[in-house]
Amino acid sequence: MIDPAKIWLDDRGQHIQAHGGAIIDVDGTYYWFGEDRSPDNDPGTCPVACYASKDLINWEFRGQVFEGRNPAKIEGLWQIERPKVFHCKATGKFVMYMHIDGQVPGHWSRYRRAEVGIAVCDTVDGNYEWVRSFRPLGKESRDIGQFIDDDGQAYLIFESRPEGGFHIARLSENYLDVAESVAFIKSPIEGGAIVKYDGLYYCLGSQLTGWWPNANKYATSEKLEGPWSEFRDLAPPETLTYGSQSTYLLKVVGSETTTVIYMGDVWRPYELADSRYLWYPLEIGGGEMALKPDSGWAPGIWSLDVRSGDVEYDE
Ligand code: DGJ
Repeated sequence: MIDPAKIWLDDRGQHIQAHGGAIIDVDGTYYWFGEDRSPDNDPGTCPVACYASKDLINWEFRGQVFEGRNPAKIEGLWQIERPKVFHCKATGKFVMYMHIDGQVPGHWSRYRRAEVGIAVCDTVDGNYEWVRSFRPLGKESRDIGQFIDDDGQAYLIFESRPEGGFHIARLSENYLDVAESVAFIKSPIEGGAIVKYDGLYYCLGSQLTGWWPNANKYATSEKLEGPWSEFRDLAPPETLTYGSQSTYLLKVVGSETTTVIYMGDVWRPYELADSRYLWYPLEIGGGEMALKPDSGWAPGIWSLDVRSGDVEYDE
């Protein structure tokens, strides 16, 4: 069972450290990558952790697959956030994208570099090796998201502050670059996530309120290129998305039904290691998408059969 926004233990009995994360399915196993904020991390590192599961409920810690020891050699303050791993069928490699950021001379903010970093590995949960960092398509990029379309095409979603919106950008053939922007949506949204459901694209994201929760919003379109609809609230706005921020939309296609899971982070900015995960099945279809807990005021305990796709709610 999944108990939203509560401590979630891994196979070692430790709180899962995969914040700002996403999940890929490799040969029937789910791999969850995210920011590892463990308090005992070496302070000179910003590691990315990997967990594996067959059922999305029980997670085995596979290790800190990227150590993140200031790989871009940024002077001053720096950090790595929101890692996303793509499996490149053309090269067989696993390619990790991450938001890498830091100070630039003469400025106090830790978010001035606004780049993505790339690291690669031959296996999904091996040691990822640093490749480089850059601004995708020459643009500032902060919180990133990942989308893999039903045809296998991979996209990076990145927020571009100077343009007041975000891009949905196709990766290059070998996934080591961002090839082109297929859509720019002029809406101040970060932590972008996309799912294709019943022939329609649903794009979700959070507003720009830093670590503090807000009413996350979604838009729809028949094509990734757009035109995209107006943005609407995912949940009753007064709940501030039940205190969470979007990070990924996971589609589980089962034998009986397809379930789309909202994956959000419940950040604790002053104690990031204690940040939680708010995962909950969405009501989706006909252009509407809603995070609507059964109990009315907070998402309760639920579980899922990944084979059938069926969800059960705890009464
Ligand atoms: C910066 C954003 O403003 C926060 O909301 C949060 O997403 C962090 N990045 C962590 O990725």
